[in-house]
Amino acid sequence: MTSARQISTEQETREQALVDRVLRSFADCESPRLKQLMEGIVRHLHEFLRDVRLTEVEWKEGIDFLTAVGHITDDKRQEFILLSDTLGASMQTVTINNEAYGDATEATVFGPFFVEGAPEVPRGGDISFGATGQPCWVEGTVKDIEGNPLPGTRIEVWEADEAGLYDVQYDDGRTAARAHLFTDDEGRYSFWGVTPTPYPIPHDGPVGKMLGATGRSPMRASHLHFMVSAPACRTLVTHIFVRGDELLESDTVFGVKDSLVQDFVEQPASTPTPDGRVVEGSWARTRFDIVLARA
Ligand code: BEZ
Ligand code: FE
Repeated sequence: MTSARQISTEQETREQALVDRVLRSFADCESPRLKQLMEGIVRHLHEFLRDVRLTEVEWKEGIDFLTAVGHITDDKRQEFILLSDTLGASMQTVTINNEAYGDATEATVFGPFFVEGAPEVPRGGDISFGATGQPCWVEGTVKDIEGNPLPGTRIEVWEADEAGLYDVQYDDGRTAARAHLFTDDEGRYSFWGVTPTPYPIPHDGPVGKMLGATGRSPMRASHLHFMVSAPACRTLVTHIFVRGDELLESDTVFGVKDSLVQDFVEQPASTPTPDGRVVEGSWARTRFDIVLARA
């Protein structure tokens, strides 16, 4: 493999002169932040081009790939975010911005399957609305960073069914495995959902081709999404993962954080449920205590 370090001094000078000219073109940019961003991307982009000694054929292939990413993107499908997710750029952005929030519960990627206006369920209610899967009791508290309970916190939850599909991936307009609920006076919440199972990200487009060409799997580790919002607190977008899931190390969007891996404890058939609900067969239970940072 070639590298920028094997080229002649004259060639190095020519290439660096071009970088410098492009950087100077932003001299009159009025916004210091925009200037910083543009100079940064130009510096890193040229560094990449020079480092890998990009061929013109490869440049064209790259342009064709980005064009395909644009063409498949519409108001229902955002392939650019999928690209950002699979290159770890979304998770890196979350990680950079999470630094400010100390001991609060960690955030992770949002994903494309949140829907505004999901139904409200009472505490202890069932968010599955008929979605297939093993019933799973989820409970926990929401507190601020000083340990004060946060009553009335809005919790949005959404997940895939046993087949690994979100409701919006079916074409019958169903609403299932998503809802919102509120914490009680002591910041407690609970609901019935389904035990998360692994599923692939949408991989029938250019990002899926990229994953295939690079020998990567489209699979996400099993998870359950949360968006938690309370007045004067940072809205937390996160999910919890299932301890023991073999995909924890290879989640295709790099979304797993150790602090978000929870025990989903299998309960054999006929184990009494926390709310007296009669469940046929086995069920599972998990606990997720959430700490919100101040806004
Ligand atoms: C998801 O969690 O559903 C998801 C996240 C990122 C990309 C695709 C799917
Ligand atoms: Fe998801």
